[in-house]
Amino acid sequence: MVDSIEEITGIRPGFANIDLNNKSAVQEFLRIHKVVAIIHFAAFKAVGESVEKPLEYYRNNLVSLLNLLELCRENGIKHFVFSSSCSVYGQPDYLPIDEFATVKPAQSPYANTKKIGEDILRDTTAVMNINVISLRYFNPVGAHPSSKIGEYPVGAPLNLFPIVTQTAIGKRDKMKVFGTDYNTPDGSCIRDYIHVVDVARAHVVAIDRMLSGQTKNKYELFNLGTGNGLSVLEIINAFEKITGVKVNYECVERRGGDVEKVYSDTSYANKELGWKTTHTLEDMITSAWAWEQVLQKKSLVTSK
Ligand code: WQD
Repeated sequence: MVDSIEEITGIRPGFANIDLNNKSAVQEFLRIHKVVAIIHFAAFKAVGESVEKPLEYYRNNLVSLLNLLELCRENGIKHFVFSSSCSVYGQPDYLPIDEFATVKPAQSPYANTKKIGEDILRDTTAVMNINVISLRYFNPVGAHPSSKIGEYPVGAPLNLFPIVTQTAIGKRDKMKVFGTDYNTPDGSCIRDYIHVVDVARAHVVAIDRMLSGQTKNKYELFNLGTGNGLSVLEIINAFEKITGVKVNYECVERRGGDVEKVYSDTSYANKELGWKTTHTLEDMITSAWAWEQVLQKKSLVTSK
């Protein structure tokens, strides 16, 4: 990953592999490096898994956040970007959902960790000298167009896109579509898929906004979505059409913790951040597919 970033940007980033739940190890890192701003991406992120493992999710996602915020206070770090999630909206009363909607009860422990995370951040900015921007990701997918950086699931992936590409390439015989009895046109769940490069660009904008003193409040939050809601079956069909490769699937029971449909109102983020998505569904599918093929080549080389 570090090599790939260097190949793409010409800059080799510093890298340290530290568990954020180990506060003293993070403090040691901050003692050595001068940190001006933090983008906090690290968390568990699988909705279905969180229903099975609530304690692991609450501990990992919340203790790491508390450690980082305490360390910001102890080290005078004043800028913080948080990876939040559209799942904080629960099943919204209206769609597309905007940032001013009342947040509904979380439908999974994962979603609740993000909701509680946002509450912790809001309360902290009220009393601490720190600016925070929460970015509520919808469904980030795809890979860098160079195919040098992409999703590298630890063990079996749990999110839709890597499961579709793994099925198409033959790593798995068949995939499952969780629920076709939802109140949607084809019965499967609707999500707002967004290309990872658009998500990454929003973080650059958020950091610039804070460092240049353009924030309007100490705590701000923005949706990161495209505004297009697509069903699971529409994604599979689009994948088959764009790549020409069949995806073997079966329709099964609903998965625990899933909301029926959610997609973003993008107007506030577009206007306030001056940020817009530029990647299409085709970009998402072709880059995810190219990345899966790179992963397969790598595994063929290492298994020889
Ligand atoms: C998408 C849809 C599944 C796998 C994700 C992230 C979470 C978050 C929001 C930010 C659902 C269906 C999936 C499969 C399927 N935010 N599905 N068969 O749950 O929307 O949550 O986006 O980053 O972090 O995890 O994403 O990709 O798991 O599921 O039918 O084998 O695909 O039921 O409707 P989800 P997902």
